[in-house]
Amino acid sequence: MTEAWGPDDDEPRPHHGPVKVRVPAKINLHLGVGPLRPDGYHELNTVYHAISLFDELTARRGDTLTLTMEGEGAGELELDESNLIIRAARALAARGRVPAYARLHLRKSIPLAGGLAGGSADAAATLIACDMLWGLGMSRDELAEVGAELGSDVPFLLHGGTALGTGHGEAVSPILARPTTWHWVVAIADGGLSTPAVYRELDRLRAASPPEPLGGPDELMAAMRQRDPKVLGAALGNDLQPAALALRPQLADVLHAGQEAGAIAGLVSGSGPTCVFLAADANHAQRVAAGLTEAGVCRAAVTARGPQPGARVI
Ligand code: C5P
Repeated sequence: MTEAWGPDDDEPRPHHGPVKVRVPAKINLHLGVGPLRPDGYHELNTVYHAISLFDELTARRGDTLTLTMEGEGAGELELDESNLIIRAARALAARGRVPAYARLHLRKSIPLAGGLAGGSADAAATLIACDMLWGLGMSRDELAEVGAELGSDVPFLLHGGTALGTGHGEAVSPILARPTTWHWVVAIADGGLSTPAVYRELDRLRAASPPEPLGGPDELMAAMRQRDPKVLGAALGNDLQPAALALRPQLADVLHAGQEAGAIAGLVSGSGPTCVFLAADANHAQRVAAGLTEAGVCRAAVTARGPQPGARVI
């Protein structure tokens, strides 16, 4: 006879202390966008890359579900049922058949609507934190299944590193490459861009020209294997960039300023308006960030390294 909850059993149990989870932002080294599907998403072929710009979510036991926050977007981001953190907690509780009781606190550094998947990152952090708080012991694959319903980038942000994304971005498979650290400068814009609006603008721009085949990530993957920032820089690409530039023409000035500051390459991150620049090393990244700051084309320019692990308890 086995004794339930015996000292040797490794059944997951509810966690009594606070659970703190750190989650990175993502950029897309390659973002190939295919046609609009009947379900309202576009078919994607992307290479995700997690960088060292982090949000932190703390989950404590509670007798209801509450969310507070500090940092980027505080006072702007709704903390009600529409918030992806609340939606993630409720979806996980339903899946695990437990009451959705927790006191959640977000410390936010990833800008809102910035093209860095901040919302998906926070949902991923919530899934990891509440899974532990409630002792559900779900696998990362199970959490990714719950997460895919919340945002296209959630499965990647559970995973982290550098990975291929297909479907509408939710189908993630790791890229097996020798670990190389890449150095980035992230130019944070004033104000965000709506992801659906950027996709709609792309459809509008494309309506005037014959459809292009969905570009694969082969060139980018081959470039990564060479571990040379110049080679990687030449292979970076984002099909959403023309649409983001059409909606926010000032982004051309940001890209130009990054080039003037000596970056190896620059591109719009995801649906923008954040722009990211590749640097040769940490010192070079500092110089590019200083040049961008001096040019006065963005709200802030910060350095970051990638790849980083996905959402993790710290
Ligand atoms: O999945 P996520 O919440 O990030 O997507 C936000 C919106 O962006 C979608 O509702 C859709 O309008 C657009 N989108 C898209 N194709 C994708 C991902 C997102 O059209 N692959």
